[in-house]
Parts: sequence; C-alpha cells; structure tokens
Amino acid sequence: MPDLLTPARSLQPAVIDSRREPLVRVQGLTMAFGSTVVQRDLDFNILSGEVLALAGGSGCGKSTLLRHLIGLQMPAKGQVLYGTQDLYAADEGARTALLQSFGVMFQAGALWSSMTVGENVMLPMQVLTDMDASQREQEARFKLALVGLAGSFDAEPATLSGGMRKRAAIARALALNPSLLFLDEPSAGLDPLTSAHLDELILHLRDDLGTTVVMVSHELESIFALADRLLFLDAQSKTMTALGPPKELRRNGPEDVQRFLRRGASDQGKEERA
Ligand SMILES: Nc1ncnc2c1ncn2[C@@H]1O[C@H](COP(=O)(O)OP(=O)(O)O)[C@@H](O)[C@H]1O
Ligand SMILES: [Mg+2]
Repeated sequence: MPDLLTPARSLQPAVIDSRREPLVRVQGLTMAFGSTVVQRDLDFNILSGEVLALAGGSGCGKSTLLRHLIGLQMPAKGQVLYGTQDLYAADEGARTALLQSFGVMFQAGALWSSMTVGENVMLPMQVLTDMDASQREQEARFKLALVGLAGSFDAEPATLSGGMRKRAAIARALALNPSLLFLDEPSAGLDPLTSAHLDELILHLRDDLGTTVVMVSHELESIFALADRLLFLDAQSKTMTALGPPKELRRNGPEDVQRFLRRGASDQGKEERA
C-alpha cells in the first residue's frame, strides 16, 4: 500500500501495468440526497498512479461521486476506503491527514476574487502547513510555472481568461504536492489548445510525479489521451455500467458507452491513426 502522506514528488514514476495497487476502494456505495438515490451499488478501485476518468450523462452523479471520494458527503450506504481506513469512520487525525493528501479542483474552479492568483495558490499552504512566507511564495511560483502561468503571480483573478483561471485553480490544487488529484471537468469550456496543454500537464503529473488522478470529463480527446480507465455512470439505471480502458470499452463496452465513445468521427479517426 503506497503511503498517502508521502509527497508525490518522491514517488517513482507510474508503471502502467495490471499489477497496480488499489489506492482507494469504493465498496457498495449508494449516494443519495434525502430519499432520492443518485447512484447505487458502486464498486470500484482507484489504482495507484492511474488516471481514472468519470463519465456519464449530465446529472448522473459525477460531481456527487467526487464529493463522496473527498470526504464532503457521507454515503447513504457503503464505504470509501483509503488503505484500510474508512474515510467516514476514521478518527479526526487520520481523516485530516488523508484530506491533506488530496488536491481538488471543483467544477466551478473558483478562485477567491479578493486575492491575487499567487495568494490563492499559497492559501492551502498557509492554512495547512507551517511553511514560512518565502517558502510559500517560492512554491506557489513553481506551481504557477508548472501550469504555464509564471507571469500571473500578482494578477487579479478577474483579469485572467477562463482557461487561465482553470489553470490557476489547478495550481492551487497542486499546492501541497497531492498524491491524489481530483479534477471536475478541467477542460470543459476551454479552447482546444489550452485543453491540450492541460492534458500534457496531467500526463506529466502521472508519469513524472506518480500522481493518481481522478477526472470528470466529457472530452473524448482528453479521455483517449489520458485515461487509463473510464468509469461510466448510467443516469437511467443509476449505477455504473462500465469500467475499463477507454479503447477497450469503445470496442466491447455496453452499446450506450460505445456510442458515447464514438461521438464525432474526427476524434475517432484521430484516435485510430494514433
Ligand atoms: N445539493 C443537492 N441537493 C439535492 N440534489 C442534488 C444536489 N446536488 C446535486 N443534486 C442532484 O444529484 C444529481 C447528480 O448531480 P451531479 O453529481 O452534480 O451530476 P453530474 O456532475 O454528473 O452532472 C442530479 O440529479 C442533481 O440534481
Ligand atoms: Mg458535475
């Protein structure tokens, strides 16, 4: 079992094979708001060093699943296990340590508008570590450079484009060198070039830093370029209907999953040439 508290940078690059260990185990998870079930009976692992994409129709429960994985919403049934620890039954200390090993970019990707971009990225370090001001600044500048925003440390969020704001939110998610990164629709609404840059960044995190990434995405190009596996949540039956490498699911998955993965002949053609 990899140590979740080890900074990602000290981990070995991910080896892509079937011997990867489960980092997180989701067992019999049912998610609900009051008596309304969103998804039921989810059983899957998040493997160490993989990019796991979550997909499914709008409103099927992707963002809700992310909230369950990061400790923000209690399961109606079932468990989210990090190693042997149940995220929702762990004592305060263990839970805080787990939460500190996550980086999260929410769907809205919101930055605090009253702070500069640099201050936004330094905020988690200020709240959760004992780094001093100069260490925080150095680390924030490093993270901003990583997402291609080296020049934006002193900028106000409002002066950035949508794509730049998303990248800044990712820099903030990376602030504490998370070993596990959760991204909710990171490339939605971005132009293709910015989106391609983001894909490269995610590959760098996985391949060079060993970061495990869970990413909600509709973008086929990103899914085929990045995802080791795709988990498909079905809105009608309210449960998962497919889990596997995207190319395999496109060939042999359930019909609706194949359809989802074949939208747009250009993506498909590009993929098949690759
Ligand atoms: N706070 C909430 N209270 C009640 N229902 C919610 C809440 N948040 C989301 N939902 C409902 O849960 C379902 C799943 O939402 P969500 O996880 O945001 O879907 P997705 O991210 O897949 O588009 C939707 O039907 C949505 O309306
Ligand atoms: Mg969502």
